[in-house]
Amino acid sequence: MANPSLLILAGDGIGPEVMSEVKRIITWLGDKRDLHIDVEEDLVGGAAYDVHGTPLADSTMARAQEVDAVLLGAVGGPKYDVLDFSVKPERGLLRLRKEMDLYANLRPAQCFDALADFSSLKKDLVSGLDILIVRELTSGVYFGEPRGIHEENGTRVGINTQRYTEHEIERGARAAFELAMKRDKKLCSMEKANVMESGILWRDVVTEVHADYPEVELSHMYADNGAMQLVRAPKQFDVIYTDNLFGDILSDCAAMLTGSLGMLPSASLGAPMANGRPKAMYEPVHGSAPDIAGTGKANPCACILSLAMALRYSYDAGVEATRLENAVETVLAQGVRTGDLMQKTGGKAASTAEMGDAIIAALTASL
Ligand code: IPM
Ligand code: MG
Repeated sequence: MANPSLLILAGDGIGPEVMSEVKRIITWLGDKRDLHIDVEEDLVGGAAYDVHGTPLADSTMARAQEVDAVLLGAVGGPKYDVLDFSVKPERGLLRLRKEMDLYANLRPAQCFDALADFSSLKKDLVSGLDILIVRELTSGVYFGEPRGIHEENGTRVGINTQRYTEHEIERGARAAFELAMKRDKKLCSMEKANVMESGILWRDVVTEVHADYPEVELSHMYADNGAMQLVRAPKQFDVIYTDNLFGDILSDCAAMLTGSLGMLPSASLGAPMANGRPKAMYEPVHGSAPDIAGTGKANPCACILSLAMALRYSYDAGVEATRLENAVETVLAQGVRTGDLMQKTGGKAASTAEMGDAIIAALTASL
């Protein structure tokens, strides 16, 4: 059987640095676990713009459609802020999500024991926290038409449209219910049905899908209340299902509960391909962090944990995924920390590569 394939798009800022550590782990998996992944690399975001004048070349888009999974680093940076909207680095990312039809964006927020002190919330509120936000990723106000900026009676008007079809809400809801079935069987759906028709439809459709998952306890919450509840008592949640815009905001909020954005992976999944696995792209939740790019200080954990998600969801290698997640946890418990995970008075921060060294050592020790 052919090796599984992976398209790496390291992108901008700290993307290439954290991706170097991921590549070392892929090599380790081949050497030590006989799990060989065929890796190819290409450009996205500002890096692609610099070469092609577009944040995602058509040839890259085509390869993304063919491989078993895509792993993306980060896009964007101050250098590109002046670009026209249509060629900004973020457009490359949105094109991948849209054209691959990656409608279910899984954003776990898990608090590692060793990091519970880093949360801006009190330790007892977050220790043991393990929630999963499922964000609809291909529709809603990010993509709805009409959109644009035009002039009306001498004044400029900016328009975006929140638009959801029943089908779009339903397929994401099914993904969320399926995931809830494998966890604590609790799903909270968030919208603004009190002020938005799309929210009313959202609530109706999720309730209809619930009929197929009677074992799951379903609740509904207005998204603003959801934001409050996430910082008041986050452990009340198991799986949260919400739309593209609310999910963008709520997942940043949930991420920070865990102490550092530098720890959080994500998976964006679409419909099953011929091999039965979903079309998939994996990315760390953190951005390109231009302030520390090129300094070797970035935390590679979120990108490494994104590889773990790829092992689980795209490569049928759940055992290796768990091994990798455990290795990260072991290293944190040993006190190895990149700068983002240091107390102000703490000792010497590990570099990106030193963090990678420690994780590989923990992997080897696990054999
Ligand atoms: C995210 C990011 C993106 C989004 C940006 C970079 C386009 O914030 O993945 O959460 O808004 O979806
Ligand atoms: Mg975001």
